[in-house]
Amino acid sequence: MENTMTETQAAMRKENEGTAVEAGSRATERFTASGKLATLDVPKERVSLLAGAAIKAINDIAVEHQVTYEEYHALKAWLIKVGTDGEWPLFLDVWLEHTIEDVNSAERPGAVGTIEGPYYVPEAPVLPTPATLQMREDEPGTPLLFKGRFTDTDGKALQGAQVEIWHADAHGFYSQYAPELPEWLFRGTVKADENGCFEINTKRPAPYQIPTDGACGQLIAAAGWHAWRPAHIHIKVSAPGHQPVTQQLYFPGDPHNEDDIASAVKPELMLDPRPRTDGGEGEEVVYDYVLAREGQTK
Ligand SMILES: [Fe+2]
Repeated sequence: MENTMTETQAAMRKENEGTAVEAGSRATERFTASGKLATLDVPKERVSLLAGAAIKAINDIAVEHQVTYEEYHALKAWLIKVGTDGEWPLFLDVWLEHTIEDVNSAERPGAVGTIEGPYYVPEAPVLPTPATLQMREDEPGTPLLFKGRFTDTDGKALQGAQVEIWHADAHGFYSQYAPELPEWLFRGTVKADENGCFEINTKRPAPYQIPTDGACGQLIAAAGWHAWRPAHIHIKVSAPGHQPVTQQLYFPGDPHNEDDIASAVKPELMLDPRPRTDGGEGEEVVYDYVLAREGQTK
């Protein structure tokens, strides 16, 4: 499918050529610095089971598809490049995380989740509701009021709930991953009020391509795929005593809702933008969250 890149996006891409690798590799730096590595402890039995199954699956593919030495050496060269480009988190989050998320949320009642992706940054500025995310003067894009309410699975308002939100700008770039954007542009932690309600003023994000000038882009070009993700807002919601949910929300009509490279779109995550009820400029979306108690299952 032909992409939906606007002229402005194309110009920005050109201007920022060379930053996509930085964007891909930044995720490696952040994962390494996150402290997650220090706490990893996978039992030997699980390592043996999972590594054994993965090795068998790859060997089965080699037999089924009669892999040649040329293809084998191309694979080796590409795997080396994924590492040297720092794109393992990008590769895994784009092509595997959606399955990991499905497996791990299958028994959780309430709000539907999807992948976190590689561009989350913890500890974004805390804002009370109604909140306005950080923007530049003359920030481009359609104003968007995002509001909703938190309840538990019995319909009771949740106390102490919060929405961590992050999304791309109107050119498809993320702060802290593309150069020259304010540090916390379109990133914030919004505290809901005592009724579990929140309101966030932001601007509608653009669709974007995952970085195309590293190993992942090389694979996409070699296979004749596309690199597009539909426009989306990333969310992490949480409340004390309840299971957190990580998700993304999407906009109807985006051509890449149907063929998202990260396979992260679900019907439950589609927004319904409408004219604002407060008479303000732009559009409004309402999305309510039901959170399950800790340990609660379907
Ligand atoms: Fe994203």
